[in-house]
Amino acid sequence: MCGIVGYIGKQKALPILINGLKRLEYRGYDSAGIAMLENGDLQIVKQPGKICELEESVAAANFTGNVGIGHTRWATHGVPDRKNAHPHTDCRKRLAIIHNGIIENYSTLKNELILKGHTFVSETDTEILVHLIEEFYDNNLEQAVRYALAEIQGTYGILVVSKDEPEMIVAARNGSPLLIGVGEEEYFAASDASAIIRHTRDVAYLDDGEMAILNHKTFVTKTIHDKPVTKYVERVSFDLEQIEKGGYPHFMLKEIFNQPETIRDCMRGRLMLENGDVRLGGLEVHLDQMLKAKKIVLTACGTSWHSALIGEYILEELLRLPVEVDYASEFRYRNPVLDPETIVIVISQSGETADTLAAVREVKKMRSPVFGICNVVGSTIARETLAGVYLHVGPEIGVASTKAFTAQVTVLMQIALLLARRKWMSAEEGKKIIRELQAIPEKVEKILQLDQKIQKLAELYGNSHNFLYLGRGYNFPVALEGALKMKEISYIHAEGYPAAEMKHGPIALIDENMPVVFIAIKDHSYDKIISNIEEVKARNGRVIAVATEGDEKIKERADHVIYVPQTLDFLSPLLTIVPLQLLAYHAAIVRGCNVDQPRNLAKSVTVE
Ligand code: AGP
Ligand code: GLU
Repeated sequence: MCGIVGYIGKQKALPILINGLKRLEYRGYDSAGIAMLENGDLQIVKQPGKICELEESVAAANFTGNVGIGHTRWATHGVPDRKNAHPHTDCRKRLAIIHNGIIENYSTLKNELILKGHTFVSETDTEILVHLIEEFYDNNLEQAVRYALAEIQGTYGILVVSKDEPEMIVAARNGSPLLIGVGEEEYFAASDASAIIRHTRDVAYLDDGEMAILNHKTFVTKTIHDKPVTKYVERVSFDLEQIEKGGYPHFMLKEIFNQPETIRDCMRGRLMLENGDVRLGGLEVHLDQMLKAKKIVLTACGTSWHSALIGEYILEELLRLPVEVDYASEFRYRNPVLDPETIVIVISQSGETADTLAAVREVKKMRSPVFGICNVVGSTIARETLAGVYLHVGPEIGVASTKAFTAQVTVLMQIALLLARRKWMSAEEGKKIIRELQAIPEKVEKILQLDQKIQKLAELYGNSHNFLYLGRGYNFPVALEGALKMKEISYIHAEGYPAAEMKHGPIALIDENMPVVFIAIKDHSYDKIISNIEEVKARNGRVIAVATEGDEKIKERADHVIYVPQTLDFLSPLLTIVPLQLLAYHAAIVRGCNVDQPRNLAKSVTVE
């Protein structure tokens, strides 16, 4: 999610806010805004677009106040336009709030607040929070914020100001990062230190369930249940570049390591364990149409096409419906046979890929409904599809897609569960899948601990000229994705293949210079994969196997084994892809490649 910055002190707040927001631009954003306490009044300037455009807008206002808050938005609810940009205010324009995160129970609270007479101007979840604070506000901002947060389910990092208490900023955190910067009679709040490091390196990190009250003289920290909390002021040693990457050397590595959190984020507020069901707000009104479908077509490009292939296996298994997958670039030209009983789902992280967008427009010319799975709220594909499901994993900066891939598979799993539970699946079966989905983030954490072992493999094989990736069933698309990661960031030629297909040609390539990566987990095709490994070994191939924890047999055959925890077959790609992402990353490092901006590639291919 995006960026927060606040200031209270002896300097003019505006330049500190604007420069702080510029420092947070790397987090990706679609709109920005500031609130200033100016001579006892509350001034708001906000708009979609770049920080520099916001800077031009506020320059004319000539703000001189020394208390203010600023926000860069990565939309989750409501397209990126002016009315949805932060800050948001209450009915009487006394209070202003900025928020990073997702309020899961916002629609229930919004209905209650409307019944109490509140009027809303935005489509965001955030806006309900400032109206809830208004409900409790009686010239005690800290208390009103605490009472309001007691009603909230979801994640937040917030800053709140009131024109009736102009010497104060109230900060609170639950799930989204927030720190307090300590200066000489001046205090800062920010999503991360990069926003304020030019003013102070002394920071106190808030933890979940904590809040801070800042004034000109000091800051006080407590829990949102009003229990005092002592926070130690630490000295930030990172340089700016490192902070933006959260201390990781590259955005791609940060995004690989963030996957436990981002997989949680794309399930947040959507899994209902109590009845073994799923809630996907964007699809609710289209459920009947989806349930009547006789066929599903998935279309996408690149990594998103790989997640579509996994979606094909999952949806066919759980819905017993024919599912077709097509490259968007092929789909749009092959005059596909579509009818109202065929639903099309396009998958696009950026929501701007030209071929995928063209496929959407092709489908709309026919009479099939088209849905989107995107990460960027308000992106063209998100806006032009009938409805869809957002990934909610925050901006993916690395050109090589990682967290978006695992999020796409997780969302496809949730769509399959949503439909299966309305077709045939029992609540108990649904609960079993949900429990396993909820266990995935911790299993990914465990795999990430193998990073150094995988780095050594990359050092061993990083100068190979070719790689072959082989998998079966749900892990055939993982073989394709692992190969794509390797080729696009290390520039080593790598091919993914269905393992059984190796005999029909690729086996001619096998020799001692050809490392072969097998996804060889204990699923229904395990014995067949073992045979394939033996065929490779018989030709002096070098085998790297991704295997299931506890599998001793594989050690006798593979040269190297990377173990992943057991899970349901159709969830295994969420685990087996992680070692392959790391292998590609470290191979690129070994070869001195530019990991975050690989040659010839763009993050979003908006050309045909
Ligand atoms: C994946 O690592 C590549 N960056 C690329 O294949 C990408 O997946 C493809 O361009 C599709 O992008 P999209 O998901 O934004 O549509
Ligand atoms: N959920 C809020 C919105 O969509 C905040 C998003 C963010 O973290 O920037 O406006």
